Amino acid sequence: MLKIRGLKKKFKNFQVLDGLDMDIEEGALYGFVGPNGAGKTTAIRVITGLLRPDGGTVEIGGRDAFAYREQVKQEFGYVPDEFGMYDNLKVREYMEFFASCYGLDGLVARNRCMELLEQMKLLDKEDDYVDSLSRGIKQRLCLARAMIHDPRFLVLDEPTSGMDPRVRMEFTEILREMCAEGKTILISSHILSELSRMCTDIGIIDAGKIVLSGSMSEILRKVNDSNPLRIRLCGEREAAVDVLKEDRRVQTITIRDGDIVVNFHGDQTAEAELLARLIACGARINGFFREQGDLESVFMQLTNHEFQKVVFHSEE
Ligand SMILES: Nc1ncnc2c1ncn2[C@@H]1O[C@H](COP(=O)(O)OP(=O)(O)O)[C@@H](O)[C@H]1O
Ligand SMILES: [Mg+2]
Repeated sequence: MLKIRGLKKKFKNFQVLDGLDMDIEEGALYGFVGPNGAGKTTAIRVITGLLRPDGGTVEIGGRDAFAYREQVKQEFGYVPDEFGMYDNLKVREYMEFFASCYGLDGLVARNRCMELLEQMKLLDKEDDYVDSLSRGIKQRLCLARAMIHDPRFLVLDEPTSGMDPRVRMEFTEILREMCAEGKTILISSHILSELSRMCTDIGIIDAGKIVLSGSMSEILRKVNDSNPLRIRLCGEREAAVDVLKEDRRVQTITIRDGDIVVNFHGDQTAEAELLARLIACGARINGFFREQGDLESVFMQLTNHEFQKVVFHSEE
């Protein structure tokens, strides 16, 4: 659905986008994540045609986004990071205004607006003034507006920032439903854990470049190796700890909730070897598994390259 190659953009002397590449497959719920100032909004503004890049290409639905601007505009809906001000405009009028921007009027426009307000659970807000709505409701309204021409691709710039957790969950639920109905969605956020739960794919941007991307499961597998290994024993731990201390692949050893938690850099074969050695030394093991990774650990791994030396401490 989206293909970006070598995107560059400079503001004065500051290289905001520095050769950005991105691929989003049809049907994906793609999380575009990175710290503040990484270049997410700039990239999104280029994708949506609001900003000209200094170099690079953007294809949407197989077409060059700059050469086929008018056709490409029909393909996507955009929820910007700022809602804007709408003095004295009611929800219904707001929707009908955007419908008219896409050439819809009369009964067709009216029906389409009602359909979208219903989908976004906003029917009871029809007569409310837009400026009086809460942030969560405004974002749902903005999403309704972005859907007016029934685009296949939705681009949302930090839509959930400033929402409380419950409102955020309702919003992500709506996105998931839309994705299940066949939409492709690009959502940016600086909240990693939020995206890790809902996205099928992810791209991590840092200083204007993608530093890691792929399917959620692929990325979690990649970093699985850096997730702690948890070893549960019945009885004495000493012998097991001695074995772990001697292993060069073991970086840290911690006792947590009665379990031994180690940072172990090794693949599954190495894990099996370690387990065999622990058993051979007499440790009575009734649990041996990698903890599940999440995006936070991916991010830490990317930004923190210095691993700690072997330490031993107890959290008990
Ligand atoms: N119009 C502009 N003029 C100058 N600098 C800008 C402009 N827009 C963005 N920047 C700078 O580019 C960097 C990336 O901004 P942005 O794309 O908004 O990042 P993000 O959305 O990831 O927080 C920031 O350092 C920001 O100050
Ligand atoms: Mg931004």
